[in-house]
Amino acid sequence: MRIQAVRFSESGPPAEVLRTEEVDLPAPGPGEVRVRMLKAPVNPSDLMFVRGNYAIPPHLPATPGFEGVGVVDAIGPGLLPRLLSGRRVAVLGSLTGTWATHTIVSARQVVPVSGRLSDEQAAMFFVNPATAWLLTRVVLNVRPGETLVQSAAASSVGRMVIRLGQRFGFHTVNIVRRQDQAETLRVLGADRVVVSEGPGLSAQLRSLLPQGVLKAIDPVGGEIASELASSLGERGELVLFGTLSDAPLAISPRALMTPGAVIRGFWLSQWMRGQSLLNKLRIVRSVARLVGDGTLATVPGPQFSIAQIREAVIAAEQTNRPGKVLLDFGNPPA
Ligand SMILES: NC(=O)c1ccc[n+]([C@@H]2O[C@H](COP(=O)([O-])OP(=O)(O)OC[C@H]3O[C@@H](n4cnc5c(N)ncnc54)[C@H](OP(=O)(O)O)[C@@H]3O)[C@@H](O)[C@H]2O)c1
Repeated sequence: MRIQAVRFSESGPPAEVLRTEEVDLPAPGPGEVRVRMLKAPVNPSDLMFVRGNYAIPPHLPATPGFEGVGVVDAIGPGLLPRLLSGRRVAVLGSLTGTWATHTIVSARQVVPVSGRLSDEQAAMFFVNPATAWLLTRVVLNVRPGETLVQSAAASSVGRMVIRLGQRFGFHTVNIVRRQDQAETLRVLGADRVVVSEGPGLSAQLRSLLPQGVLKAIDPVGGEIASELASSLGERGELVLFGTLSDAPLAISPRALMTPGAVIRGFWLSQWMRGQSLLNKLRIVRSVARLVGDGTLATVPGPQFSIAQIREAVIAAEQTNRPGKVLLDFGNPPA
């Protein structure tokens, strides 16, 4: 079958290397399904993958896109594919790429989604929601009354964390890089907002949290993560989960040594690989409930066809975007 797919043959700036091409798609094999894609988000991890900066190297030529929503329109042999035939599904962590009119994926990598969820929310159903949920509820287990500090707080993940704080009773101190983002986050329910481009971040954090930062998450790295690490209090914990600044940390060993603080990493794919099937199902169920009630919803932004891939990736990297950029494959729903 001939399909339209976004592809790149060399790593580099997404607006320069991505093309929309007609390619052959084989029939789904045993245990696989073919998904007719409806929508897929443009996430920072997709753009890093195209640049060749992601944890998974691309096998060139490659199609980007780790998640999205679509309808199962062909199946390979197996019970699970049969159960999914014709269903609208969220594609989770596809390694074959969701930025195409159709994709082949293992039946274990898709989840049927409730009819109540819009295509937009279903397309963004897992990567960010599961990350926000796992970081706060499992990895750091932020309890009611505790304070979590987060950077890039105006990101989609950041906004979910603020809503999780409201729902589960923990406070959030939110670092953003521009003053105009502060008011938006306060309206959303942020307890405190700190602008990193104002006076020294560590001094601002010290005045808000005199005992030091005890729980923090950071997807930026570089200067912001270094200041967060240097602000950790007694047995403080900082979880690094992104590389938005593409810069390394510079901290004194004493920043961790004296308070007995720790820095560790989190990557959703690695986390999920270590879980039993039952646990994975529990995580998907918990996340689905919270996406459904709006706690882990994502603000959708402008939508583009795959022929407009260049415009889409440029829009996705603009600062202060109105919401998450999505690709719309022009396929009719089931
Ligand atoms: N480890 C994992 O498994 C995992 C899973 C999901 C997401 N993530 C990571 O989580 C992060 C957020 O993802 P998202 O989809 O929520 O992002 P998003 O909605 O696309 O928003 C990105 C945000 O990051 C801010 N930002 C970009 N570069 C920055 C920099 N150099 N310094 C400070 N802030 C910067 C932007 O601020 P402006 O508005 O000012 O531009 C924007 O608010 C990404 O790093 C992503 O890779 C990691």
